[in-house]
Order: sequence, then C-alpha cells, then structure tokens
Amino acid sequence: MKAIIIYCSKTGNTQKVADSIQQGLKGSADMVKLDLTPDGIVKDFSPSFTLDLAPYDLIFMGGWTMVMKVHPYMAAYIQRCGNLEGKAVVGFLTGGAIFSRGHVRDDFTELIESRGAQVFDFTFITTLLGATLTKRKLRSAEEFAANVMDRFEPHTQAES
Ligand SMILES: Cc1cc2nc3c(=O)[nH]c(=O)nc-3n(C[C@H](O)[C@H](O)[C@H](O)COP(=O)(O)O)c2cc1C
Repeated sequence: MKAIIIYCSKTGNTQKVADSIQQGLKGSADMVKLDLTPDGIVKDFSPSFTLDLAPYDLIFMGGWTMVMKVHPYMAAYIQRCGNLEGKAVVGFLTGGAIFSRGHVRDDFTELIESRGAQVFDFTFITTLLGATLTKRKLRSAEEFAANVMDRFEPHTQAES
C-alpha cells in the first residue's frame, strides 16, 4: 500500500494539516508541496509538470479554499496530473469560512470524478481568518488520516 500527500499552501495552514496527516499515516507517505507564485495566484500552469500517480494506491490532496472553490493551482494539478484514473483520493481543504465547506467539497468531487477517480473521503478544516490552527484541529486531522488508512487497507486487501 503506497500513499502520497500532495498539497498547496500559501500561508502555512494547509501545510500544517498535511504534516498532521503524514503523522496519522505514521510517516509512511511520500509528500509533495506544489509551489505557488508569491502572490498566491497562479495565472498559468505548466502542463509539462505531471507527477505520475501510477505507483500510488491512496492519494491525499490538500489545498486552500479560494472564493469557495479548490485553489486554482490544485485544480489545475488535478486536471493535468498523470494516471489519476481509477484512484482513491482523499481531500483535505482548509478555509476561513465553514459555509464554504459544501461548495468546495462539491468542486473537489467534480474535479476528481472528471478524471475518472473517486473521492474516498474528504475533510474541511476551518482556519478562522488569521487565527492559528488549534492543536485539537491538527490532532483531529491526524486521527482522520489514521482512520482513512484503517478503512482503506482492508478495502485494498479485499480487492486483491
Ligand atoms: C483571496 C482569498 C480568498 C479566500 N476565499 C475563501 C473562501 O471562499 N472560503 C474560505 O473558507 N476561505 C477562503 N479564504 C481563506 C483561506 O482559504 C484560508 O486562510 C486557508 O487556510 C489558507 O491556507 P494556507 O495557509 O495553506 O495558504 C480565502 C483566502 C484568500 C487569500
């Protein structure tokens, strides 16, 4: 079972959540941070950059919510990365407003399903505009990842 965590983060919130997810996976996952430009908005995305996801069974994708949607850089990555078809994907989105959760979840699901992959699970972590992420929230992200792994491993064993 091979897992990877791919995320983008401008001010560090999603990065902290990604680190907690890695702890929940007991440090077993590969980890890739997608770079953002200094102003946080990528106007262009290089299609030549594809990270081949073929070797991975479980893919965690994280990013921050921007105008109630998946950040455009992560969205562009989902649309163009290599071999996402048929994969199980777990979304972790951070955002300042709880009312964005449903919108960003729908956006994420649509992006993933448009690539022929499935959303295995999803979590939205509120960052409350400027306030720091609490330890409790980071611990629950860690528990979320451990719980996903517990449910995913028997699922893959049953299929093989
Ligand atoms: C331009 C901009 C738009 C944003 N729009 C939303 C939004 O629609 N909904 C939301 O919940 N948070 C929104 N946020 C807040 C960020 O998603 C939140 O602070 C996030 O945790 C930042 O993640 P990062 O620290 O990993 O960069 C917005 C932030 C910026 C700068």
